Amino acid sequence: MRITIIGSGYVGLVTGACFAEFGFKVTSVDNDKNKIESLKGGQIPIYEPGLESLVRYGQTTGRLSFTTDLKTSVIEADVVMIAVGTPARRGDGFADLSYVFKATEEIAESLNGYTVVVTKSTVPVGTCRKVAEIIEQKRPDLKRGVHFDVASNPEFLREGSAISDFMRPDRVVVGTDSNAAKEVLAKLYRPLYLIETPIVFTSIETSELIKYASNGFLAMKIAFINQMADLCEKAGADVQDLARGIGLDGRIGRKFLNAGPGYGGSCFPKDTLALSKTAHDLGAPVTLIDAVVSSNDARKKAMAKKVLDDII
Ligand SMILES: NC(=O)c1ccc[n+]([C@@H]2O[C@H](COP(=O)([O-])OP(=O)(O)OC[C@H]3O[C@@H](n4cnc5c(N)ncnc54)[C@H](O)[C@@H]3O)[C@@H](O)[C@H]2O)c1
Repeated sequence: MRITIIGSGYVGLVTGACFAEFGFKVTSVDNDKNKIESLKGGQIPIYEPGLESLVRYGQTTGRLSFTTDLKTSVIEADVVMIAVGTPARRGDGFADLSYVFKATEEIAESLNGYTVVVTKSTVPVGTCRKVAEIIEQKRPDLKRGVHFDVASNPEFLREGSAISDFMRPDRVVVGTDSNAAKEVLAKLYRPLYLIETPIVFTSIETSELIKYASNGFLAMKIAFINQMADLCEKAGADVQDLARGIGLDGRIGRKFLNAGPGYGGSCFPKDTLALSKTAHDLGAPVTLIDAVVSSNDARKKAMAKKVLDDII
């Protein structure tokens, strides 16, 4: 089975290198020529433990290759994964889907033979169906369910432990309404069956929401412990002991209970905003997430002010 991954950024690169390690033939595509040239020369543009050697090994075995030629790589593929960026849109904080839709149009032009088009990027609920619509509009000769199918397969890897997160994940989530696509995705993740990884098959919409619900929940834990830290300070209590005291309860868990300056990074801020916006748009506001977003913003502002005050 041949896999083509559109986008050789953090997620695309890790996913490609790991699927090549599973034994599949993977083509990693990017429209950034410099990035592809560096990758061909064995230079990895990001630091991630274990990634460089995995990429080199994939290249040596001939199972992993890099190209800017999206057309040829899509023609040859059985599975095309979209792993382009989905940054926060200016103004309203919703996910900017322009890269996903642009990539979809390019993919549509070259689809050939039954192909499963998979969204690996973090995309709001409804996006995967929109991807199918774009393909149908662009290629009226192609019939969904016959010539192509779509599936949602969000990624949960963490920067710093991305390879082991991919190779030994807590779970894999796949959303599709097609049995053929389900079979293809099950084949892709077969190596993980051997280590008894739960593969959660759901509807497309559920899969898309699982990704946002996961990040929203983790962000909520961070916002919670930060508010508890403020309360501890006023009450003369120790937030680290408190975190240990509650985290040892298996229902709560110890992770994501480190009080600090508020969450940041490339995913939580944009994903919480996008979840909040989606929920409002659909008329089912998740007000807990709205509160998390404003509490985190307030925390970051207060922390920045404290740093400035300390300097002055
Ligand atoms: N970074 C993470 O830890 C992480 C974890 C889980 C999920 N995600 C999600 O995965 C997605 C990708 O994130 P990332 O951090 O890998 O992004 P990134 O910005 O590092 O990489 C995206 C790549 O896609 C390329 N690209 C864009 N449009 C293209 C096109 N039409 N054709 C070919 N290449 C194209 C860009 O040049 C870039 O190299 C996002 O939706 C993100 O939210 C990220």
